Amino acid sequence: MASQKTPSLVQLAEQILAAAKDLEAAVSAPPDFQNDTLTEIPESLSGTRKALIDATSTLNALARGSTGTYGRVPHLSCYQWLDQISLLTLYRFRIPQAVPLDSSISYADLAHRCALDTTQLSRLLRCAMAAHLLHSPTPGQIAHTADIRLLATDPTMWDFVGCTLTELRPAGFAFLDAMAQWPGSQELSQTAWNACSKTPKTFYEDVLGDSERARRVGGMIVQATAEGGREARLLPGAYPWAGLGEGATVVDVGGGNGDVSFEPAKVHSGLQFVVQDLPGVVMEGEKGLPEELRDHVRFMGHDFFQPQPVHGADALLFAKVFHSWSDKYAVSVVRALVPALKPGARVLILERALPERGTVSEVEYKEALAMDLMMMSLFNAGERTLEEMSGLFERADEKLKFRKAWKVEGTIYNLYEAIWTP
Ligand SMILES: C[S@@+](CC[C@H](N)C(=O)[O-])C[C@H]1O[C@@H](n2cnc3c(N)ncnc32)[C@H](O)[C@@H]1O
Repeated sequence: MASQKTPSLVQLAEQILAAAKDLEAAVSAPPDFQNDTLTEIPESLSGTRKALIDATSTLNALARGSTGTYGRVPHLSCYQWLDQISLLTLYRFRIPQAVPLDSSISYADLAHRCALDTTQLSRLLRCAMAAHLLHSPTPGQIAHTADIRLLATDPTMWDFVGCTLTELRPAGFAFLDAMAQWPGSQELSQTAWNACSKTPKTFYEDVLGDSERARRVGGMIVQATAEGGREARLLPGAYPWAGLGEGATVVDVGGGNGDVSFEPAKVHSGLQFVVQDLPGVVMEGEKGLPEELRDHVRFMGHDFFQPQPVHGADALLFAKVFHSWSDKYAVSVVRALVPALKPGARVLILERALPERGTVSEVEYKEALAMDLMMMSLFNAGERTLEEMSGLFERADEKLKFRKAWKVEGTIYNLYEAIWTP
């Protein structure tokens, strides 16, 4: 990364003022913690919003300095925990569901509803208010903010919070034990998850053994991917699909419910898509296949570690499959294609590229880092840089020549293309 000079406090404050003016000019009222009007801003201002988040975070960090009571080091080690424990308190005791949506409740009544001690609860609620999660319209009373209203009314956001704070966060901390116990492991049974939960089962095996936890992970995935689909929607314009030729076959391996294939299939009716996944997933996916795509999209049960059953396809696509598999397994999935490949066949991988710092906003960069560590803690896998991803093809087979990474504009996804060149 090219080192960049840190902006001064005044430069940052000026950037913040300019971005804040642009955003407020685009919404019906300045946002507050009851009314999140920034949901109104158009996509064209999302860069301004990210710049505002970045500049305020940098200004905050600089204003703290490194030490002293409010310094960055004490803040990170001791005080930042307050915000997560506040949210966890709300989740654990179902406080969003116990606070009336459109009125307030006294501390004592809330403690009674949640079967808690009033004094202890009040102390934690003070922290939640300081984190803007709740507010006190009149002394002694508690009411919702936009955030808690969201938790009370959006079941998958509720699952997202529950799953991240109670399953993934502890695993995230156990990561250090896993690193010490199984240095460099690529195995699914030697992860931070295993170190934390003291089980040799993989994350999914363990979670699927408990119907409520399985349901909650499902909700978390729905929430986490709610804004996804964007890269799928942009996929038709991101790659020269027509260049595969009229009547070409595209196999979407690990294709889930087929959403990713549906997008190019809508635009290119001359292409034939085969969506492969594990049998149960395929059964569900077939139910959602739109009528108008039935003549050129079909589903097929297939374990991608087994030899590819569709021989002579023009392209084989893996969309968002590999970030949850370590190199060892990703390579063996790609190798399972080889006996079925015809000369000139394309192997396409749609994945986020772990960006170089400074090439995207800090808020996006940190989200990518968090996803990387999450994949590492659960699966010993992770996000790959452009070079790591493009190198995967030739590590699987040297005749699989990486050609190009097609950027899916407006996202941090790339479509990596390799050609089978025997
Ligand atoms: C993150 S999802 C991506 C789904 C889809 N490609 C998309 O982008 O929406 C990963 C997919 O890999 C599938 N998968 C996992 N193990 C598999 C296996 N051994 N064989 C085939 N598919 C598998 C999962 O069922 C899941 O649908």
